[in-house]
Amino acid sequence: MLNFAIRVAKDAGRLLRDRVGTNFGIDHKGDINIVTEVDLASERLIRDAISTYYPRHEILAEEGGLSESSSEYRWIVDPLDGTTNYAHGYPIFCVSIALEYRGEIVLGVVYDPMRDELFAAERGAGSALNHRPIRVSKTAELIQGLLSTGFPYDIRTSKLTNLDHLANFAMNAQALRRDGAAALDLCYVASGRFDGFWELNLSPWDTAAGALIVKEAGGQVTNFSGGPFSNYEAEVVASNGLIHDSMLEVLAPPH
Ligand code: IPD
Ligand code: CA
Ligand code: CA
Repeated sequence: MLNFAIRVAKDAGRLLRDRVGTNFGIDHKGDINIVTEVDLASERLIRDAISTYYPRHEILAEEGGLSESSSEYRWIVDPLDGTTNYAHGYPIFCVSIALEYRGEIVLGVVYDPMRDELFAAERGAGSALNHRPIRVSKTAELIQGLLSTGFPYDIRTSKLTNLDHLANFAMNAQALRRDGAAALDLCYVASGRFDGFWELNLSPWDTAAGALIVKEAGGQVTNFSGGPFSNYEAEVVASNGLIHDSMLEVLAPPH
C-alpha cells in the first residue's frame, strides 16, 4: 500500500506542477480561504485511484469530506497543501496522503513536485526522503533552533490567532519561518531542516502523514500540553525531541 500511495501522490503532484501558473479558477471558502480548480482535480485523481484499487476503504479528503464505509482503513488526503502559495505561484506546496487502520496512522506520504521530493514513512519502519533514511536534527537548544508555524484562516474572527506564540518564539528561537504548507513543515522537521513546528486549528489531512514522518524520523509530536497528538485535535507541536520541552514552555499559558 505504501507503493500505491507513493505512485498516487506523484501522479497528483505532477498534475499540480503542470498546472502551476496557468489560468485556473479560484473559489472562496471564506474571506482568505480559497480553493482552486487544481485542488479539485488533484482530489479527483486521488479519490479515483483509491476507489479503483481499494473500493471498500474510507476516504477523508479536504474538499469532498468523508466517504463513509464499514472498512477499518481510512485514507486521509490533502490534495494540495499550500493552496494560497499555489494560487500566487509561490513554489511551496505538496500532496499529502496517509492511511489510518483501526484509528492509527500506518503510512504517510508527502510529495513536493517542484523539488521532486518524496517524504514517506511506514509505522515502525522509519522515514525516508526519496528512499534515503532521514533523521531529525540534533539542535539541543531552542535559541539555536529554526522553527516554523502557520496561521488559521479564521485569524480575523477567532481569539486563537497564534500571534502571541509567534511573538514569544521570536524572542526564544534563532529564527522563524511561515512557509504555508503544514505537511511540508512537518517533513522539514523530520529531515532536520527545521528543528520544530507548531500550529493550531489544523485539520486531519494537514497533519496525518507529516506527523508519522516526524515520529518515524526520531522526532516528537504532541499537543501544546505535551499530551499525545491526534490528527483530529487542533494543536500540534513537532520537534527533534531535544527542544520539545522548551517549546512547550513557550506555548504554556501565562500564569
Ligand atoms: C493550509 C496550509 C497552511 C496552514 C493552514 C492550512 P491548505 O492548508 O497547510 O500552512 O497554515 O492552516 O489550512 O489550505 O493550503 O491545504
Ligand atoms: Ca492543508
Ligand atoms: Ca488543501
